[in-house]
This record gives sequence, C-alpha cells and structure tokens, in this order.
Amino acid sequence: MSDRETNGAGSPGEATRQHATLTIGNEQYELDVRRGTIGPDVVDVGNLYKQTGRFTYDPGFTSTANCKSSITFIDGDKGELLYRGYPIDQLAENTNFLAVCYLLLYGELPTNTEFINFRRTITNHTMVHEQMTRFFTGYRRDAHPMAVMVGTVGALSSFYHDSTDITDQEQREIASHRMIAKMPTIAAMAYKYSIGQPFIYPRNDLDYTSNFLQMCFAVPSEPYIVNPIISRALDRIFILHADHEQNASTSTVRLAGSSGANPFACIASGIACLWGPAHGGANEAALNMLKEIGSVDRVPEFVAKAKDKSSGFRLMGFGHRVYKNYDPRAKVMQKTCHEILDALGHRDDPLLKIAIELERIALQDEYFIEKKLYPNIDFYSGITLRAIGFPVELFTVLFAVARTVGWIAQWKEMIEDPEQRIGRPRQLYIGPPRREFPAE
Ligand code: CMC
Repeated sequence: MSDRETNGAGSPGEATRQHATLTIGNEQYELDVRRGTIGPDVVDVGNLYKQTGRFTYDPGFTSTANCKSSITFIDGDKGELLYRGYPIDQLAENTNFLAVCYLLLYGELPTNTEFINFRRTITNHTMVHEQMTRFFTGYRRDAHPMAVMVGTVGALSSFYHDSTDITDQEQREIASHRMIAKMPTIAAMAYKYSIGQPFIYPRNDLDYTSNFLQMCFAVPSEPYIVNPIISRALDRIFILHADHEQNASTSTVRLAGSSGANPFACIASGIACLWGPAHGGANEAALNMLKEIGSVDRVPEFVAKAKDKSSGFRLMGFGHRVYKNYDPRAKVMQKTCHEILDALGHRDDPLLKIAIELERIALQDEYFIEKKLYPNIDFYSGITLRAIGFPVELFTVLFAVARTVGWIAQWKEMIEDPEQRIGRPRQLYIGPPRREFPAE
C-alpha cells in the first residue's frame, strides 16, 4: 500500500484529501484517509469488502481503529495519557475522581455549581435496592469478588427497569449516574460478604472515595474515621484507572452495547473482560509475583525466567500493548505508593524493596530495553492497595469501580454516534471447505 498526499487536510474524523492506494494483483483501489486531532491518521477500510471482495486481517486489533472517539488519547511512544485533552498527571494532582467522572462524561471540567449538582445526583443513587442484599446470599463466601461483581452488576438490569431503554436520552443518563454511584456500594458489599461482616450503608455526608472506604472498613459496633491521606491516595488511584481508550474491556462494552443491550448488562461484560490477568487482573498477579519472589536476592532469577519463553512466565505489571515508554499512570502510582507507605509507616515493606530492585534490573536489561517493556500501572498499585488494607482479591474490583465511568462514557458516545452499527468482525476461515454428510 502506498500513501500519497494530494492536497491539504480535513477536519478531525472527516476524510482528508489524502488517499491510500492499495494494490492487489493488477488492481488498484483508492482508500480514504481520516485524520484525528492528534495521533496517527487512519486508512478507512469500511468499503474494502464492497470494493475488493477482501477483508483486512488484524488479530488482536494491533492496527485497527474500531471507532471515532473524543474521550481519551494515548501516545504510547511518548508515554502520554490525556482525558479530554488534560494530562493524567495534572488531573491526578489537581482534581478529584468525581470531577474526572464529569469530565469524561460531559467533555469539560465542571464549574463549582455543576460539580455540586453532579455530586448531589451521584450521592442520591448510592444505595442499592434492598432486595439486592439478599441476592448476595446466593454466592459462596469464598467466591472471587470479581465473580460476584459480574453477576450482581448484570442483575442491576432486573432492578432498575426505568433506565434500560437505551433509545431514551434521559434513561441513558440515569443509568450512567446509577452505575457510577452504585458500583462502590456493590464492590464494598462483595468484600463484606466475603469476610462475613454486615453490609455498611453509604453515607451521603462523605465524598465518593471516603464513602467507599467506610463501606469497606467500617463496622456497626464502632465509629469509623476516614484517614484523609488514604482517601486522597485512593481517589488518585481511581483517577488513574478511570479510562484508557479502546482497551479490551472498553471494547467489550462497546461491542456488547452495539447490539442494543441494556447498559447494566454491557458494564457486566466489561467487568468479565477486565478480570483476566493480561488486563485488570494484572494488579493481583503482580502482587502475587512479588510475594513469590520473596526476597531481593531472587530478583535476577525471576528476570531470567521472564526472558525464557519456554518458562511461560512474564513479569506481571510490565509491558503494555500501547505504551512503549514508561506508563504515565505508573509514574503517578509509584509516587502515590511511596506517599502511602511513608504515611502508614510501611516504609520498610519488603515487597516494595523487591519491586524497586525488579524495576531497576529489568530497566537495564537488554531484553526489556529492546522490547520496550516498562512498568505499567499495575506494578505499584498492588503494594499501595495492600498497604491501604485491601485484600489481593479486591484489587481488580477497585479497578472496575474506577473504570466504570470510562465504560459508561464510551458506551454513551457509541450510542449517540450516528455512524453506530452492530459490531460484527469478519474472519479468515481456515476450516474444511464444504463437504457432504457421509452416506451410510
Ligand atoms: N514479561 C516478559 N516478556 C514480555 C512481557 C512481560 N511482562 N510482556 C511482553 N513480553 C514480551 C513477549 O514475550 C513478546 O516477546 P516476542 O516479541 O519475542 O514474542 C513481546 O514482549 C511483545 O509481547 P506481546 O504479548 O506480543 O505484547 P501484547 O501487546 O500482546 O501484550 C501485555 C501486552 C500487557 C498483555 C503484555 O505485556 C503482558 O502480558 N504483560 C504482563 C501483564 C500485565 O502487566 N498486564 C497489565 C496491562 S496494564 C493494565 C491494563 O491496561 O489492563
């Protein structure tokens, strides 16, 4: 395929006056090129099958843009992440998670009045239908909380019938607010159920993250005072996880939503996808790996194992499909990790020492340099969340709580896109050709 500039550039998302020429045998085909605000242009292959009778082949979508989006942008080479244009480190430093939710949903940071109204709306939706508390008793106590999340969030569609009509803008809005508000409540309930403690109701006088902490750690028999340092750190962790453009779980939500499925079912599908160790489950896997390494002197052994393909072992919390530089979220997470461990007197945490040594050795190793494998967000998040007091099984649940707003914002964007159609990939068939059923 050759690329040629004919004249000038179009506005973002539109076809430019540039074209790509595809040659198959003796035939040549002109393909439109679309330009984004920033980032790579895309070659529009939407009519390729009609024009050529061929499909494109791209397992794992390494070169395929599945949609237009104006929510989040990643520059993997620079190690940059923008929410609606704002750098992630600036948002983590200067604002709070709920304001970031507003930004992701509506495109702009809220004014004071908008923030107060948004917070009131979300706060009003934090309780779940009382019957849901009984729903929990159907799960085994030793169930993984992500299994409980998939089931319970999917079940929201059986409780909130007045917000499942996706063609109604108002219902979509209510469903969005409900999901952001109820996800921490359900996550805390999953945790409380797993440890056999009573559920703690939301408290409307607390901010979003402090309320989540009290639902997780308070007990009815004594007052619970939220530690503001922990609350601020967790709020920042939520900001870092809030959205990440067309990652696996977000693409799952978009694909599920493209058939017209209700929003609660779509978010449940996103949670299911997030659970995998290559995606959100990596924070749990990274902490387990640090525990398995056990001491700083065993780090070289594990680095060697990660380089040996036959071992099947990878350094969890390392590498990323898009980032070929330090994950900008990992930088903020590393700082947050040190702050939390200092504040809680865990400065000598042996796992932190192992993590620092692992990072040091890997970043100097030719294998990791050549493959551009850097620590990702999950590398330091496990140590931080463990210091806060969360058990390992809850790490991915916390990721799901934070990512819900991203899923919802992307789902809404898709539903409101006039170009939206059901997502239906094609395939390269390599099975047997037609054959007749054997005669007797
Ligand atoms: N340790 C050792 N080798 C690795 C690692 C790793 N963590 N990650 C990738 N590689 C190697 C891999 O073996 C391959 O080598 P080669 O080219 O010789 O075959 C090369 O690097 C490229 O890897 P890939 O699997 O083709 O890359 P991918 O883009 O398909 O996978 C990834 C990205 C994140 C799934 C992968 O890096 C990985 O498995 N990392 C560990 C799990 C992890 O930390 N996941 C969290 C991702 S960030 C949170 C999120 O967004 O969910």
